Amino acid sequence: AAGGARASRAAIPFGSAAQIEMFRADPRYREALKTYCSVIVPMNDLKWEALRHDRTGFDFSGADEIIGFARQNGQAVRGHALLWGEALPPWAKEMSTRAEAERELVSHIETVVDRYKGRIATWDVVNEVIAHEPTLEKPYRDTIWQRLLGPDHIEIAFRAAARVDPKARLVINDYDFEDPDPRIAIRREVALRIIRRLKDKGIPVHGLGMQAHLYGEREIDSHGLRQFMLELGKLDIDVEVTELDVIDWKLPADPAVRDRAAASLVSTFLDAVVSARQPRAIVTWGLSDRYSWIAETFPRRDGAKARPLPLDTEYKPKPMMKVLDRYR
Ligand code: XIL
Repeated sequence: AAGGARASRAAIPFGSAAQIEMFRADPRYREALKTYCSVIVPMNDLKWEALRHDRTGFDFSGADEIIGFARQNGQAVRGHALLWGEALPPWAKEMSTRAEAERELVSHIETVVDRYKGRIATWDVVNEVIAHEPTLEKPYRDTIWQRLLGPDHIEIAFRAAARVDPKARLVINDYDFEDPDPRIAIRREVALRIIRRLKDKGIPVHGLGMQAHLYGEREIDSHGLRQFMLELGKLDIDVEVTELDVIDWKLPADPAVRDRAAASLVSTFLDAVVSARQPRAIVTWGLSDRYSWIAETFPRRDGAKARPLPLDTEYKPKPMMKVLDRYR
């Protein structure tokens, strides 16, 4: 169906996350990033764990390398992520007072956003702040930020980022927005409420990032997804796809069958998104099956290698890349 859609729509910027170890070691990886991407996201190097080995210093080496490469190639950079409950260095997990958490969070955001001002136009300001199975009474994920700062952690982060770079696009990034299970689908309502609350308080929030780690064995709730994006539109919030890949642990073993199933899932998801809103970008969480977090986090019972991404382990385009080509 979407075969003809391409002609009537503007291209959507496409990109990928880039992992520093592979980026340094594998020239074919760098080549693929150059060939396919107009947007690059340092996969792990802007996380606290990478930047903040100790409380007083910042190590920008990995992030600088990837961002420098993107600049050379005329690629835009998304920043990921200023606040997350995971990937924290030990010292940060030991924070114990509200004042300390607020001081550290604000000074971290000020330093990082200021350093990349003019180079990083879009920031995932908060990542995964919604509880995995939230209720309207308990919407927030239990993290050190939530424990020490309560719900205010979100606005503190957005305010700090906006203060330092008033031109940056500020995004709330989270997952499972395409899931039909009512216990998970409520995440969409929770996201809308969080955004409304920020807007009511005059806090600048511009975008919602959908991670889109799509489960091979789950349906895409196309209708729910479209409704969600229309509601975001009413709030003047843009959408973007930030970490697209397919969790293929429960898909059939046959690689060709698996690749077709993954491509079709991506197609269903993107068709639903695009039928409601034009996303600001479509970003995959890596390019080649050679390297992906899915292999370790969602291992297959049969031990076969995960095939979550648009290029195979030899950097050959898979059916998923054909689907992506319709949009980019
Ligand atoms: C993952 C990376 O891909 C891994 O390399 C790392 O070890 C752990 O984090 N949601 C997110 C991403 O927002 O930051 C995560 O990335 C994947 C899930």
